Amino acid sequence: MGMNGSLDRQVISVSGKGGTGKTTFVALLLKTLVSSENSYTTLVVDADPDTNLPDVLGVKVNSTVGKKATELKRRIEEGSLSFSISKSDLLEAWVYETLVEHEKFDLLIMGRTEGEGCYCYVNNALTNILDRLITNYDIVLMDMEAGLEHLSRRTDRDVNTMIVVCDPSKMSLKTAIRIRDIAREVHINIRNIYLVGNRFHPDNVELFNEWAEREGFKVAGYIPEDPYVQKCHMMGIPLMEIPEESPALSAVKNIAVNIGIPI
Ligand SMILES: Nc1ncnc2c1ncn2[C@@H]1O[C@H](COP(=O)(O)OP(=O)(O)OP(=O)(O)O)[C@@H](O)[C@H]1O
Ligand SMILES: [Mg+2]
Repeated sequence: MGMNGSLDRQVISVSGKGGTGKTTFVALLLKTLVSSENSYTTLVVDADPDTNLPDVLGVKVNSTVGKKATELKRRIEEGSLSFSISKSDLLEAWVYETLVEHEKFDLLIMGRTEGEGCYCYVNNALTNILDRLITNYDIVLMDMEAGLEHLSRRTDRDVNTMIVVCDPSKMSLKTAIRIRDIAREVHINIRNIYLVGNRFHPDNVELFNEWAEREGFKVAGYIPEDPYVQKCHMMGIPLMEIPEESPALSAVKNIAVNIGIPI
C-alpha cells in the first residue's frame, strides 16, 4: 500500500450535527489525500441519504447503492430472478457498477432505498459486500448523515477512526457526546474519536479546547471560517478546485497529520 504497509487501513467516518461542515471537511480531506505524495488509494463513501457530496466534489453519478438495493428487493418479491444467480453476487456486481472511478479516488454513493417492507436480507448482503469492498483501499472516508441515526443502522460498523465535526454551538458539542456514547455501545473497533472544530474564531479555540478536554475528547484541529470555501459553495465550484492558499485547506492538511495520515 501507499504507505509502505506501515499503517493499517484507516476507515474514517465524519459525523456531527446538521450543517456543521461534515461534507466540506470530507471534500477538503479528500483533496489533501489525492495531492499527497503518498499516493493513497482512497474510497469516499457518501453515506448521507440526502446525497450531496458528488456536487461538492464535482463528480457526476448515475445510480446509487440504495437504488440497486430497491431493485433487488423488488425482483425478489416478483420472483423474477433466475435461480442460477446468487442474489448476493448479483447485488455485489450492481454495487460495483455504481462505483464512480475517478483518477485518484473511487466514490460510492449509498443514497436511499425506496418503499416500505423488510430490507433485512438486502441489508445483510450489502454489509458483507461493503466489508469486502473496503479491503481494496488504504483509506476509506465516509460522509455520514447529520445526527445519530447512522449509528443505529451501523452503516459505520467498519469505522476505526471517528471524526465529529463541531461548530461553535452547544448543540454540536452535545451531539458529539451522544455520538461518542452510542459509538461506545455499538462499536468494538474504534481506535480513535476526534473532534474537529469548524468555523471557529481563533479567540474561541481555547474555550473549546477546555471543553473538549473536560469531556475526554481529543481535538484533531480547527478549520477557520474561509472565504474560499464560501465562494465555492455559493458559486457551485467543486471544493476539489479550491485554491491552495485556502486557510481551511491548510487546516485540514494539519488535521490529516494529526489523525495519523502522513501527507
Ligand atoms: N470553514 C468554512 N468556511 C466557510 N463556510 C463554511 C465552512 N464550513 C462550512 N461552511 C458552509 O456551511 C455550509 C454547510 O456545510 P456542509 O454542507 O459541509 O455541512 P454538513 O455538516 O455536511 O451539512 P449536512 O448536515 O446538511 O450534511 C456550506 O454551505 C458551507 O459553505
Ligand atoms: Mg453533508
